[in-house]
Amino acid sequence: RELRGVPVGDTEALERELARPDSRMLLLCSPHNPTGRVWTEKELTDFRELAERHGATVVSDEIHADLTADGHRHVPWSRIAEPGRGRGWALITSGTKAFNFPALSGSYGIIGDPDER
Ligand SMILES: Cc1ncc(COP(=O)(O)O)c(C=O)c1O
Repeated sequence: RELRGVPVGDTEALERELARPDSRMLLLCSPHNPTGRVWTEKELTDFRELAERHGATVVSDEIHADLTADGHRHVPWSRIAEPGRGRGWALITSGTKAFNFPALSGSYGIIGDPDER
């Protein structure tokens, strides 16, 4: 796999990368690390529409979901993806950041579609 990054919040660059024929997955960091940016529901919906338009699977890393600052609300990808699209997404996360126990033992994934799961 080739990982291609785009500047945080640069939707045009994101669309350009997703439009490439070999782009298959949008790996989202939500909330974003290291900037701490908590994506709004509107921004996340825009990401979903971009991914749908270009046929990209979305994998949303939400490991920092419990650590948002006051005044910010984390919106899980499962809420953005459903009911718009039952397939083509995974939410991966862990209790490790909020509760400070590193490594894979606390990790889990939520995948809406039973076949993809
Ligand atoms: C966004 C993000 N996802 C996943 C991980 C992996 O977490 P862990 O230390 O529980 O393996 C990290 C660790 O820094 C992270 O920043």
